[in-house]
Amino acid sequence: EIVLAPDAMTACREAAARIADYMRGAPDPVLGLATGRTMEAVYRALVGMHRDGLSFARCRTFNLDEYYPIARDDPRSYHAYMHEQLFRHVDIVPERTRLPDGAAPDPECECRAYEDAIRTAGGIGLQLLGIGLTGHIGFNEPPSDFVTRTRLVELDEETRRQNAEMFDDRWQDVPRRALTMGVGTILDARRLLMVATGAAKARIVRDALERPVTPMVSASALRQHPASTVILDSEAAGLLR
Ligand code: F6R
Repeated sequence: EIVLAPDAMTACREAAARIADYMRGAPDPVLGLATGRTMEAVYRALVGMHRDGLSFARCRTFNLDEYYPIARDDPRSYHAYMHEQLFRHVDIVPERTRLPDGAAPDPECECRAYEDAIRTAGGIGLQLLGIGLTGHIGFNEPPSDFVTRTRLVELDEETRRQNAEMFDDRWQDVPRRALTMGVGTILDARRLLMVATGAAKARIVRDALERPVTPMVSASALRQHPASTVILDSEAAGLLR
C-alpha cells in the first residue's frame, strides 16, 4: 500500500496515527523503531498523542540499528537519540526498550542475543522504517540478501555523509560500522511501515518501488512483504509513475 501525503508533516502524522492504532489494538504491542531525521517528526507526533492520552506502558520496542562502536551515553548514539526524541517524553518502561548495544565487546554474541530477544518477545508487530539514499532499511547497505539477520556491517560513505550532521558535519567522524537488524529480521515483522519525505529521496523511492526487487536496494524487499505500507510526501513521490 502506498499512501501519498501532501507534505512531510502530514506524512509523519499519518505514520504516527497508524502506530497509535496498532498500539491501541494489540494486547502486547511490540514496536520496531527507526532513527534519523525523518523519524523526528513521527516521534514528535507520538509525543503529542501521548499528551492526549496514548499510553506506551504496554509497549516493548526494538530499534533497527546502532553505530559500532559507540557508548550508550554518547550523545551521537541512537540510544541517546531515542531517549531524547521519544522515550523520555512518554510512559514507556525503560527495561522494555532495546537497541543493539554499540559497546558490546563481542558483536556477534550481541547480534544473536538481539535476535533471541525479538523472538522471545513474540516477534515485532509493527516495524517503522526510513530509507537511506543507498536504498538501505536499517543499515542494510547494498548488497544485502533478504535473508540476512542482525549483524555487524560496514556503512557506505554515502550513508556516513548523510548522517554527518550529528558529527559536526564531519562525515569522516561517523563510525564506519554499525549493528543492524538484517533484511530477513525486518521481513519477519508482521507489518512494515516506511516513511520517506523530501525530494532527495525521490530517486531511491522510485528504485525501491518501481524498479526490480533486488538485494542492491534493500527497501525493495518491502514488496515481498504481505502487509507493508509506504507513506510518502509529494516530493519523495515525485518520480513515481
Ligand atoms: C535509522 C535507519 C536508517 C534511516 C535512513 C533514513 O535507524 O535505520 O535506515 O531510516 O537512513 O534516514 P533519514 O530519515 O535521516 O533520512
